Amino acid sequence: MSDILVHTEAGVCTITFNRPDKKNSITAAMYGAMADALVAAQEDAAVRCVVIQGSETMFSAGNDIADFLNNPPAGTGSPVFRFLRGIAQFPKPLIAAVCGPAVGVGTTLLFHCDLVYAGDNAAFSMPFVNLGLCPEAASSLLVPQMLGYHRAAEALLLGEPFMAEAALEVGLVNRVLPPTEAAGYAQSVARKMAAKPISSLVETKRLMKKNHTEQVLAVMDEEGASFGRMLREPAAKEAFGAFMERRKPDFSKL
Ligand code: COA
Repeated sequence: MSDILVHTEAGVCTITFNRPDKKNSITAAMYGAMADALVAAQEDAAVRCVVIQGSETMFSAGNDIADFLNNPPAGTGSPVFRFLRGIAQFPKPLIAAVCGPAVGVGTTLLFHCDLVYAGDNAAFSMPFVNLGLCPEAASSLLVPQMLGYHRAAEALLLGEPFMAEAALEVGLVNRVLPPTEAAGYAQSVARKMAAKPISSLVETKRLMKKNHTEQVLAVMDEEGASFGRMLREPAAKEAFGAFMERRKPDFSKL
């Protein structure tokens, strides 16, 4: 079975993380599959709305650390960048259903979704600093914009997780539901959306986003250059090595 499932029904394309043994962490191949699914969904007139989801207990553990170490993303044509640019510019409505941990890009991708529904077990975290890295997916711009600077600093400088109710309070999440209901609720909203005129949906989204998209893409590129450089530096090597060896990282000499 594929690590990314793509299913279209009733005008809704659903993209599902399906790698439970590795906590839905995302490999380059999975980024490529999601980027391709977004392109296909954009081109397919039968698709009017896209839902991204994980399972009832796990959204995504973020980048696959071993895959990142073995195949660091090389430039803006790499699968991760194709995916990030794809969600940042996706013209049709994008809805997420999030239950359980949403780590790193599992959280930052949500800032590009139009609607987010969370299970009450959702835990959002962006622990880039703990990994010797820096924000990605334009989160250095979008997180302070949505959370305000000081809460963003807590999330990005401390890498502290926050739960569904806090995400609801800051506006990252539209509604908190029991985990067994989140995906079904997101589907019902997506189907309601899919019944509306696609031209109005696309134009409304374009107008809401048009003043930000260029800036978002520029920030994404700048973050990507730093992230790529930092991935090869000692702090990330220590953090990633510690994760693989199941020990605490030691940054005291770095
Ligand atoms: N990359 C690669 N493998 C990962 C992973 C990741 N980001 N997250 C989890 N896994 C793997 C573990 O190595 C383990 O594999 P194994 O069974 O072959 O040893 C398996 O998934 C289960 O992970 P485990 O940590 O035992 O699960 P948990 O339920 O105790 O904790 C998380 C779940 C998500 C909280 C924890 O796995 C975690 O913090 N992961 C790292 C998150 C991260 O730093 N992501 C990178 C952001 S850039």
